[in-house]
Amino acid sequence: MSAAPVLEGLRHHSSGKVRDVYEVDGEHLLLVTTDRISAFDVVLDDPVPGRGEVLTALTQFWLGRTADLVPNHLTGWRASELPPGARHLAGRAMLVRKLEMIPFECIARGYLAGSGWKEYVAGGTVCGVRLPEGLREAGRLPEPLFTPSTKAVTGHDENVPESYVAEHLGAQLASRLRDLTVGLYLRGAEHAAAKGILVADTKFEFGLAGGEVVLADEVLTPDSSRFWPAGAWRPGSSPPSFDKQFVRDWLESTGWDKTPPPPRLPAEVVQGTAARYREAYERLSGHSLDDWLTEARE
Ligand SMILES: Nc1ncnc2c1ncn2[C@@H]1O[C@H](COP(=O)(O)OP(=O)(O)OP(=O)(O)O)[C@@H](O)[C@H]1O
Ligand SMILES: [Mg+2]
Repeated sequence: MSAAPVLEGLRHHSSGKVRDVYEVDGEHLLLVTTDRISAFDVVLDDPVPGRGEVLTALTQFWLGRTADLVPNHLTGWRASELPPGARHLAGRAMLVRKLEMIPFECIARGYLAGSGWKEYVAGGTVCGVRLPEGLREAGRLPEPLFTPSTKAVTGHDENVPESYVAEHLGAQLASRLRDLTVGLYLRGAEHAAAKGILVADTKFEFGLAGGEVVLADEVLTPDSSRFWPAGAWRPGSSPPSFDKQFVRDWLESTGWDKTPPPPRLPAEVVQGTAARYREAYERLSGHSLDDWLTEARE
């Protein structure tokens, strides 16, 4: 990884594939979403302009639409609310309450895809939950499932049954996480379906503040979820992803072996991908991204 990014007056805390995290004042973090994009788990050399802004705008949109279900970590996103050293990043920066993070990814699945589909094929269950026979790939589940996974520090996250979460966190907290995860998924999926986007599955992260469960991280973005264009959904095979398929298809067409270094993206693939991200925000929120950015930069 390249040298730690620098923001005046803020200490760099960590960087993931896509985001840079800074310490603010002991009680707050600054989450900065860059335009980096990964495909097949490899970060590409070419950023997608505006991608970080779309991921930030979507998170801000959903946090506003779910605040009645659960309190969340967001305390500022407009330039005037950010630390001075981060104001130029308004639109891709979120000031958040620093939480004691709960060490599980809280995943809700409404459709059978990815690791859920693999587990079902292998043994008829998803995260230990036995499902009816005869379900098809990308098929809609009878009801959304809570399928938690461990947050692996290295390597891949591992699906675990809800009872495992209960053993670690207590039954009461585990069932609260399940209810919140499913409730948030249903809220998002119903809204998205009305806009022509299916949310196949999505991951939430929660933290604790004074014993209270608080929704953290990014929420219902294309990075934390599987978004499918509703019109392309046919149970029996995996639909294309709403946003990343363009990049993935192009990468596949080059014969790349999916190990670094990745091929450089042609300008039209970068532009096409950027347009898909913008469309995802605009469809889901019903607002123009430019209007949101104008507000963020105030
Ligand atoms: N309010 C919060 N308080 C404390 N930590 C938070 C909060 N919100 C999010 N986080 C944590 O901040 C980090 C955000 O980093 P990011 O998503 O870039 O990396 P990652 O998910 O760890 O790794 P990668 O994206 O490379 O797979 C995550 O570890 C997330 O759990
Ligand atoms: Mg993350």
